[in-house]
Amino acid sequence: MTRIAVVGTGAVGASIAAWLIAAPEHAVTLCARTPFARLRVETPEGVLESTPRLLTDPANAAPVDWVLVVTKTYDAPGAQAWLDRLVGPDTNVAILQNGVEHRDRFPALDPSRTVPVIVDIPAERRAPGDVVQRRNGSLTVPDDAAGRAFAALFAHSPIDTILTDDWLTAAWRKLAVNCAGAVNALTLQPAGIARDAEAADLMRALIRECIAVGRAEGATLPDDLPDSIVDGYRAAPADSINSIHADRLAGRPTEADARNGVIARLGARHGIDAPLNRMADVVLRKNGPDN
Ligand SMILES: NC(=O)c1ccc[n+]([C@@H]2O[C@H](COP(=O)([O-])OP(=O)(O)OC[C@H]3O[C@@H](n4cnc5c(N)ncnc54)[C@H](OP(=O)(O)O)[C@@H]3O)[C@@H](O)[C@H]2O)c1
Repeated sequence: MTRIAVVGTGAVGASIAAWLIAAPEHAVTLCARTPFARLRVETPEGVLESTPRLLTDPANAAPVDWVLVVTKTYDAPGAQAWLDRLVGPDTNVAILQNGVEHRDRFPALDPSRTVPVIVDIPAERRAPGDVVQRRNGSLTVPDDAAGRAFAALFAHSPIDTILTDDWLTAAWRKLAVNCAGAVNALTLQPAGIARDAEAADLMRALIRECIAVGRAEGATLPDDLPDSIVDGYRAAPADSINSIHADRLAGRPTEADARNGVIARLGARHGIDAPLNRMADVVLRKNGPDN
């Protein structure tokens, strides 16, 4: 039996927990801030329902084989309180979050037992424990021993686990897409705003800053990335709303630091200025409840 704890049971956490519970060889514990009695996830393959074992107090947690951290990036300190109880000498930890700083957010963990995960599973929460998973999606991890062990947890599920020998580049490519989403969050306009020439220019400029810093960090990013990302925004349904835009509409804190601020912060280490991403981070944070 593989003992697995899922810390953070929102849109993505509930979706992956439902799939993990579906495998009889898994003993899954949900570590939640807001409790619920039933877990119900509408997946592309049908509805997964279960009555999960759920904890709300880290003091009641004990070491497990795997911890999957699925909180928002800004809730890393709260997740650490769980890790303090759940991690023993043989525990592996997977961080399923946005950005490029997965391991940096949890400096106390053994990096060789920590798997950074790029999440491409679109999901929304209707209520605590009640989630819609829109696509089977994918989880991208480094092709190393811990990454392969993580992928094995999902072997029974339709979630695609992608092993890559250049995880850094994959994470910066996703960051390049996400950093441009600040234009949507700042203008409160859905994806269709990318069809506007001025908005598209701003998106490309944000992405160019991301490319410069990403390359300095070691990522391989092509020159045509700004155009291809803007083309992607233009091809999306005009009314689709990205998560940072949705967070802002809902009055929640945003992941602006992990999506834009990080580009300015890491850029400073290399002497690269990223004023647009710094502006996006500051303005989004000053407009939010996390100010
Ligand atoms: N949703 C998507 O489609 C999607 C797609 C790709 C990537 N991602 C990334 O995946 C990560 C998770 O996103 P999400 O959409 O699943 O976020 P979410 O729906 O807001 O879920 C986060 C969960 O973490 C819980 N949490 C926060 N602090 C906690 C603590 N101290 N102890 C236990 N639980 C805690 C929250 O509790 P409450 O229930 O009390 O709020 C919430 O259930 C983010 O980095 C996001 O950018 C999401």
